[in-house]
Amino acid sequence: MCMWSKLAVVAYILVFFIVTQGFAGAKKYGLGTIATPEQIAGWDIDIRPDGQGLPPGKGTFEEGEAIFLERCASCHGEFGEAFGRYPVLVGGEDSLVSQDPVKTIGSYWPYATTVFDYVRRAMPFGAAQTLTNDETYAVTAFLLSMNSIIEDDFVLNQDNLPTIQMPNHNGFIVDGRPDVPPGEPCMKDCKESVRIIGKARQLDVTPETDRATTVAALVLGAEAEQVSRGQDTFNQCRACHTLTPGEHKVGPSLHGVFGRKAGGLDDFSRYSEAMQQSGVVWHDDTLKAYLKSPAEFIKGNMMPFAGIKDDQQLNDLLTFLRLSTAAKK
Ligand code: HEC
Ligand code: HEC
Repeated sequence: MCMWSKLAVVAYILVFFIVTQGFAGAKKYGLGTIATPEQIAGWDIDIRPDGQGLPPGKGTFEEGEAIFLERCASCHGEFGEAFGRYPVLVGGEDSLVSQDPVKTIGSYWPYATTVFDYVRRAMPFGAAQTLTNDETYAVTAFLLSMNSIIEDDFVLNQDNLPTIQMPNHNGFIVDGRPDVPPGEPCMKDCKESVRIIGKARQLDVTPETDRATTVAALVLGAEAEQVSRGQDTFNQCRACHTLTPGEHKVGPSLHGVFGRKAGGLDDFSRYSEAMQQSGVVWHDDTLKAYLKSPAEFIKGNMMPFAGIKDDQQLNDLLTFLRLSTAAKK
């Protein structure tokens, strides 16, 4: 067979395989559905450096400031200075060449359009994509202005956002090195010795397993499963809450929460007025109602969490919390 006919046979077999396997697969398992144009539009939200993909809209510093205080400041601080290990969003000019570079939108990011893309895609953390386009333009204007990149009376929109030059725009170079060094790749004994130089735990990136893990292991049978499912659900809370007495993150420690007055911890300073004056005492029913719909149950409270709608999931979480938050004495 000449090369072309060989190729043709290979191509034919490939097509045959794809077609038959494709259809056979679909028939046999009945998995998946064709994505609708609406679904594709929902995912297809990337914005390029030149602004391609930006939706129409506009916003100002002033509008953005109000939104930022309400939706972002609980983690990033009122001026973008950030609490704890949350990212700093403002400042860091000229720090990139120092011993202690502060990489912010202002000091580091090369494109202004990325700020819009990122905020629209991912923020507020835990409630992504709840801002309108105009609100996103407004917070973007707020952040750019706080970083002294635009004036505070600038009306940001889809046309002028891509024209904004970021301070570190020219700070990036193309890395000309090939991905893989030339020659045979080393596959064996490539390093003389391996030394662990850091642990994710020290960086506080990976949440620690706490007492609850031990508790789950001690409970038997059906309840253990419940507890273990509840513990999985609690992963949604870990970014903001610990179960350790006195250890607060964005939210207060949940240690000893049952029987506690809402907003009742003396050493947690960031409760909202709404929480402190709600008159709620935490027990099964109130916790369930709150966690199902935080914004509705205590109007004006500041927990940036959408809620858990599934009853089973809520019950499991409550079982887990009852065991793992109990004050130990
Ligand atoms: C509950 C805490 C929380 C809230 C509220 C929140 N963020 Fe964030 N934000 C984060 C975390 C955590 C990251 C880092 C995420 C990552 O790296 O995966 C982040 C990252 C960012 C970044 C990227 C910073 C960088 O330099 O990499 C921007 C910009 C940002 N947030 C803007 C906002 C805006 C605007 C709002 C309000 C609309 C907001 N955030 C609300 C927690 C929060
Ligand atoms: C993005 C951060 C965040 C997430 C995620 C989050 N919380 Fe909160 N939580 C808070 C903040 C902030 C408060 C204080 C709210 C206020 O004072 O208005 C709070 C308050 C609470 C309170 C009241 C505590 C007290 O001392 O009165 C409970 C209970 C609670 N959260 C449970 C949970 C549980 C359970 C989850 C997970 C299902 C969860 N939270 C997820 C930030 C968060």
